[in-house]
Amino acid sequence: MKLWGGRFEKAVDTLVNDFNSSIRTDGRMFKEDIEGSLAHVKMLIHQNIIPKEDGEKIIYGLMEINKRIENGVIEIDQSSEDIHSFIEATLTYYIGDEGKKLHTGRSRNDQVTLDTRLYLKKSLSSLVNTLLDLQETILLKSQENIQTIMPGYTHLQKAQPITFAHHLLAYGEMFKRDIGRILDGYKRVDQMPLGSGALATSTYPIDREMVAKELGFSGICLNSLDAVSDRDYVIETLSTLSMIMMHLSRFSEEIILWCTGEFNFIELDDAYSTGSSIMPQKKNPDVAELVRGKTGRVYGDLITLLTFMKGIPLAYNKDMQEDKDALFDALDTTFLSIRTFNGMLKTLKVKKDNMRKGALGGFTNATDVADYLVKKGVAFRNAHEVVGAIVLQCINENKNIEELSLKELKEFSPEFEEDIYNAISLETCVEERKVIGGPSSQSVKMQLDILKSFIQDHRNL
Ligand code: ARG
Repeated sequence: MKLWGGRFEKAVDTLVNDFNSSIRTDGRMFKEDIEGSLAHVKMLIHQNIIPKEDGEKIIYGLMEINKRIENGVIEIDQSSEDIHSFIEATLTYYIGDEGKKLHTGRSRNDQVTLDTRLYLKKSLSSLVNTLLDLQETILLKSQENIQTIMPGYTHLQKAQPITFAHHLLAYGEMFKRDIGRILDGYKRVDQMPLGSGALATSTYPIDREMVAKELGFSGICLNSLDAVSDRDYVIETLSTLSMIMMHLSRFSEEIILWCTGEFNFIELDDAYSTGSSIMPQKKNPDVAELVRGKTGRVYGDLITLLTFMKGIPLAYNKDMQEDKDALFDALDTTFLSIRTFNGMLKTLKVKKDNMRKGALGGFTNATDVADYLVKKGVAFRNAHEVVGAIVLQCINENKNIEELSLKELKEFSPEFEEDIYNAISLETCVEERKVIGGPSSQSVKMQLDILKSFIQDHRNL
């Protein structure tokens, strides 16, 4: 049944009906649609816009419909135009003509953005908790690996020794920022649009503040034209989701590298790996690869909205119905990616010896040799030059710097003494970097403590 059949002489073409319908996507907002309608009808009663008895019948009907959809007694009709039409039609079917009063002073244009905001408020809270679960794993794995030395890279070339905890906590920082972005965006989702009507509010004495309070919004959208045509909050959410996926994707790429035979720094749990149909020896990091792949999909969802929004005049246009396909796809993909990634991270085995071996090669202590000379009074630029020459000789002789004798080292600079060997051991290289943010156990413990309180402070906000 159409909500707008009156001025039409002909039924809509079946193809158009299908093309126009959004119920397959917005059907998942049935709870929010009913929640919004309940608040609306309570306000209509309170303001004497509809008779109390009719309003109470509507309230009863809506609550029944909610229950019956939840326990499967009512199935959402996939041929309906959208969830709003379906709920209203079902209401009238159940309670009779009083149901037709529900839409007084309201349009689907303000209704749809209300539903989306209500849905997003719940999703964003749960997204914060899902990211905090991942942060717990990062915290746990970091605690176990404060002393696990590994090579740090720039340009994917070995650079300086760090620890696995230090490396993991870099991701901890990224997800902290993501949570910050979610909470900031939440403030703009948390504005109540109902009462804007189709675009110009209404002549009924509606009370928008009352509806906002009833639904737990912290404010109301101030301009009715903007309220029905604003999808900034969806775009902001998609942008935040894209950023989360970008972080997960970088992490995934590293995991993929680390479990190659060439790196051999970690081993994924069997439950988080897959095999090959032809090569019996294979154990593939499909989860990490899929997270990396799905990142492109979430970016696509963001671009979808940015593109269709850029040319539409005020106020509502049907193009905007495309928002929920993109939003729900991005939400589902991101939730699933974080949860699966978390399981993979939690169960992976760290090959500490191989990480250490990796840090021993590649002259990761070369900077520390130069710093040693600087501490003995040599200018840094000169020390850099001397160590460059040492590295060149080591490459030719296939040796590490610490394998050169003191006599050999002295040929490069008379400043070298016996204490050089201790000064450039992996442990010293790591532990001497006590600066805030560094890899030493002291600095890492500080980062751990801060992450720990961050998790506590943000749980179930
Ligand atoms: N299904 C529509 C959407 O998701 C609801 C609003 C429709 N309004 C209208 N006047 N056609 O955007």
